Amino acid sequence: MPTDRPLRAVAGERAVDVGAAVDADRLRTDVSYRALVRDEFTVVTAENALKMGPLRPAPSTYDFADADAIVNFARAHEMPVRGHTLVWHNQTPTWFQSWDYTDDQLRRFLREHVQTVVGRYRRSVGTWDVVNEAVDDDGSMRETVWYDAMGEEYLDRAFEWAAEVNPDADRYYNDYGADAVNEKSDAVYDLLGRLLDRGVPVDGVGLQLHALGDWPDPDSIAENVRRFQDLGLDVQITEMDVAFPAGEVPHDAAERQADYYREVVETCLDTGVETLVTWGVRDGDTWLRAFRDFPERFSGDPLLFDDRGQRKPAYDAVRDVLST
Ligand code: GLA
Repeated sequence: MPTDRPLRAVAGERAVDVGAAVDADRLRTDVSYRALVRDEFTVVTAENALKMGPLRPAPSTYDFADADAIVNFARAHEMPVRGHTLVWHNQTPTWFQSWDYTDDQLRRFLREHVQTVVGRYRRSVGTWDVVNEAVDDDGSMRETVWYDAMGEEYLDRAFEWAAEVNPDADRYYNDYGADAVNEKSDAVYDLLGRLLDRGVPVDGVGLQLHALGDWPDPDSIAENVRRFQDLGLDVQITEMDVAFPAGEVPHDAAERQADYYREVVETCLDTGVETLVTWGVRDGDTWLRAFRDFPERFSGDPLLFDDRGQRKPAYDAVRDVLST
């Protein structure tokens, strides 16, 4: 039966987490944004605040202000935090991009970074995306600074360093384009199999599920989720948003988007995926609109709430599936 209760209440009863990526400045300055996050979601991801760039203004300093703001907000409202992300090739600090390091210096820098950040939030962040996007679109290992200096071993060490400082946290590998069974998810599957064979402390895989134009088939998502689970890994949907290619937005776009959200949540329930996070709160907050060429590429309304924070059909769809 349709319900009027907030998503947070409905998800809580189902013992599933529905979350959003959040921004520290909006939490500080926008009362209605803060209220939406508090009342509607059960978990938050730091959209940018825990990435290396924002955290490391200079080689030996940290700026924890935004990350602390998110963590403190979450604690005040009893919401778990997904820590995103310790090791990534994007959004590194500006100074880092021109640093002339040796491989050994880079390894020591990464170890210190992982252990300082995980250590600071030992009591407040229970889930980490330890490594983000290590696999390239064609399934090869992505040639990042980390890979160039340390080879595939950088993943082993990053997971181990994080586990040393907080053995109780859950540690995820996170990637895009690996949501359904395809060449890239095959490669992620193989990579995680190798890590597990080497005894690396990885607990789960985050499927980002940026459904931008090309929406992964839910049956194939289910098959993919199950094979990762068969490896002994937990699976979460970590960055969901749903957009149409620009110029191909149908007249019933809101309903079609809602249908897709519904199918994905049903897939989660069928397969035992217990966490689904959307990449933002209101359409007006979406990262897609920050792309200079976004209007030429995607419709800019991929989330559960519209620009004014009103519930969309997609919101109703998610809530209805969880309440039946
Ligand atoms: C990737 C990253 C996220 C975010 C999104 C959108 O998916 O994992 O942190 O930056 O891109 O920009």
